[in-house]
Amino acid sequence: MSNEIEAIKDPGVPAHVHRAADIDPKAEKAAERQVAILFALSAFGTVLLILSYVFVPQDKFIFVPVMGSQNAHQLGLGLGMAISLFFIGMGLIQWARTLMPDTEVVAQRHEFRSSESDREDFVSTIKERAGTVGMGRRSLIKKSLGAALGLSALPPLLLLRDLGPVPSKSLETTSWKAGTRLVTDPGNRPILASDLEVGAVAQVLPEVAEGSERALSDIGKDAVLLIRLRPTDFQLTAKKLAMTHDGIIAFSKICSHMGCAVALYEQQTKHLLCPCHQSTFDVPRGAKVIFGPAARPLPQLDITVDAQGYLIARAPFSEPVGPSFWERNSQ
Ligand code: FES
Repeated sequence: MSNEIEAIKDPGVPAHVHRAADIDPKAEKAAERQVAILFALSAFGTVLLILSYVFVPQDKFIFVPVMGSQNAHQLGLGLGMAISLFFIGMGLIQWARTLMPDTEVVAQRHEFRSSESDREDFVSTIKERAGTVGMGRRSLIKKSLGAALGLSALPPLLLLRDLGPVPSKSLETTSWKAGTRLVTDPGNRPILASDLEVGAVAQVLPEVAEGSERALSDIGKDAVLLIRLRPTDFQLTAKKLAMTHDGIIAFSKICSHMGCAVALYEQQTKHLLCPCHQSTFDVPRGAKVIFGPAARPLPQLDITVDAQGYLIARAPFSEPVGPSFWERNSQ
């Protein structure tokens, strides 16, 4: 030990009491195992976090006593992170309390920059201390700490995924295809064109095969509003008029401003209103924007009927639905 750092012979406090692990090899081994178990629990928490992130669907809910219905994905992430951090902290504390040297030392004050010999002393002291802590000897702790710290570096990398998927073409397409039946939402029932009265409005989705589930992300893009006017009400180009069926017209329900659901239809004025920023679309003129910040009409779905008279899509949407910034050319 250097001259500047030396053990305090008589610090004026009660005599130092040795810990069990300092004097009893069995207690030392037990303490070592405790620390390893705490680090192993930390590693378990990290694994739980990773498994929850990768395998638990984001829309799965489970019942938890006291807490009620909880999102299983979020619960797994939270629990995993809490267990990982809590037990790695507990492991370090337990290691320090039971196994690290607890000798009190004093450092003499001196000028800021140490002399070369002091610096060399410092390095040799650090090495000596590292040896005293027993990193080389306590391979169980070293390995479990290494595993816990190594695993704890993975979640931040995984969370990069939360920056979102690369959308590629997914924002430009919906589930609507030629021949897809329009079904009520909710209810999932096909719609006979003859059942819609003039003035009626309905929210519809594309029919899915029996037993299969709709993805939430699909519902967000596929929702369509069906409105029946008198055929003479329309002021459309021939091309847009051909996309209607006997006074029935279908528009994407997703606002072309920022993607809210266009949920209000004024039967008197035949206007569709978006509640978010009051964009107003004129239905007879093909959902032309007559007020508000939306930059383009609601995309129109080309519809017709099948042999039984049920409404079907004649073609997919010919342009992306939703906010105009998804389709930069339309801004
Ligand atoms: S999202 Fe519809 S007006 Fe802004």
